[in-house]
Amino acid sequence: MKKVYIKTWGCQMNEYDSSKIVDLLQKNQNCIITKESSNADILLLNTCSIREKAQEKVFHQLGRWKHLKKNNNNLIIGVGGCVASQEGEYIIERAPYVDIVFGPQTFHRLPEMLNKFYKTKNAIVDVSFPKLEKFKSFPKTISHSPSAYISIMEGCNKYCAFCIVPYTRGEEVSRPSIDILLEISELAAQGVREITLLGQNVNAYRWFDEKSGKIYTFANLLRLVASITGIDRIRFITSHPIEFKDDLIEVYKDTPKLASFLHLPVQSGSDRILNLMKRSHTISYYKSIIEKLTKARPNIQISSDFIVGFPGETKYDFDQTINFISEINFDMSFSFLYSPRPGTPATYLPDKVKEEEKKYRLYILQNIINKQAKQWSEKMLGTIQRVLVDKILHDNESISGKTENNRVVVFNGSSNNIGKFVDVKITDSNIHFLKGKLINVENDINL
Ligand code: SAH
Ligand code: F3S
Repeated sequence: MKKVYIKTWGCQMNEYDSSKIVDLLQKNQNCIITKESSNADILLLNTCSIREKAQEKVFHQLGRWKHLKKNNNNLIIGVGGCVASQEGEYIIERAPYVDIVFGPQTFHRLPEMLNKFYKTKNAIVDVSFPKLEKFKSFPKTISHSPSAYISIMEGCNKYCAFCIVPYTRGEEVSRPSIDILLEISELAAQGVREITLLGQNVNAYRWFDEKSGKIYTFANLLRLVASITGIDRIRFITSHPIEFKDDLIEVYKDTPKLASFLHLPVQSGSDRILNLMKRSHTISYYKSIIEKLTKARPNIQISSDFIVGFPGETKYDFDQTINFISEINFDMSFSFLYSPRPGTPATYLPDKVKEEEKKYRLYILQNIINKQAKQWSEKMLGTIQRVLVDKILHDNESISGKTENNRVVVFNGSSNNIGKFVDVKITDSNIHFLKGKLINVENDINL
C-alpha cells in the first residue's frame, strides 16, 4: 500500500477536489492517506492562485519537499490546482524534481498518470480542460458527515478584471441534473441531511436534457434537490448577482429547506469601481436583489466578498463601500487586499494609492464587518435555533452543529444526536461560536 500525503490550499472547491483525489487513489491505486509528509510515498500539493504570491508559495513548499527525495528515491511529487493550471510545464522547468503536474479538470487522471510514471519515469504534465470527464471517474461518494458538498458546475465565464479563475478553471460547464440528483439521493440514503451545492457561479447552472427537450436552471435544480427525502437543509456557494433572477427569488418563497443565509459577493460599494472591475452590475441592481430577497424571506442574512485597494480606488469610492456595508448590514464576510494576478486586465490599470493606505482601509472595513457580525450573533441570544448536529467534542459531553445562519453552536448532548436536527436555546455568544442549551430533538418531544 502506498502512502499519500495531500496538502490543500484555497477554496471550498479545492477541498472538494482533494476529497475526490483521495477517493480515487484509495480505490484505484490501493493508497492510504498519511498525515506525515516525511513517511509518504506520494506527495500532492493542490494549489490556489487567487491572491498573493501564489507561485512563490508553491515553489517554497516544493523546495521543502525536495529534501525528502534525498532519503527516498521513489518518492513522487505531484502539483495540481490553479497554480499548476496557470504555470504548466514551467513547474517542471523550475522544479525538475516534480514528477506530475495536473489541473483542476484533470486530477481524475492521476491514477493513469501514476501508472505511466512508474513505467517511464518521465515527468507528466496534463493541465487540459476535458469537459465533465472527471465526474464519470469518481467512485461513489461516501460521506462521513451529515453535511455534504456536491459540485454542480465548474468554471466561470464572467472574467471580472481582477480574477484568474476563468483562466485556471476554464469556462462554465454544468453537470447533468440527473447525475447530481442521483448522487444526492445516495448521500441521503447514507444519512446526509444537509447539502451544499458548489460551483464558481452556481446560478449560471444550466442543463439541457435532450430526451425531454427541457432546460434545467438552478432554480429548477434547487426544487428537485428539496424534493429528496432526508435532505432537510440546502445551501449553495457561490452565486453571482448578475444571474440572481426572479425565478431564484421564488424558490426562497416556496422552499423552506433552502437556508435563510446567502453569500452574494459584491466586491465594492462604488459603481465606478464595479465598472472598472467589469462586474456587469451596479449597486442599485444589487440592492434590488436584496430587497426582493428580504420580501421573500424577512429573516435572511447576507454575507459578501469585498476587495479593498482595487487600482484607482479613491477615498470616496472606499467610503461608498463602507456606507453600503452598513446599509445592507452584511453579516460575517470575506475581505481582501487587491492582488494583481498575472495576465488579468486589472494589472494594466493605473494605481497611485499607497500600500499603507490600502492596508489601513482593509483594517477599517474588517472592523466594521466584525462589529456587524457580532451584533447579528448577539441578536440571537435567547432565541431558539434549529441546529444540525455534526460533531461530538473532545470532552465527550458537548456536541456542536450549525444554525441556519451558519453559526457554530456548542451545547451539552450525546453522540446519538449526530445527524439530527435539534432545537437549541442560545445562551452565550462570542466571536467564534455560540453556546446553547438543548431543548428538543427531532422525533423526541420535550427533553
Ligand atoms: N465566484 C467565485 C469567486 C472566486 S474568488 C467563488 O467560487 O467563490 C473568491 C473571492 O476572492 C472573490 O469574490 C474576490 O473577492 C476575491 N478575489 C478574487 N480575485 C482577487 C484578487 N485578484 N485580489 C483580491 N481578491 C480577489
Ligand atoms: Fe472570478 Fe468574477 Fe468569476 S470573481 S470566479 S471572474 S464571477
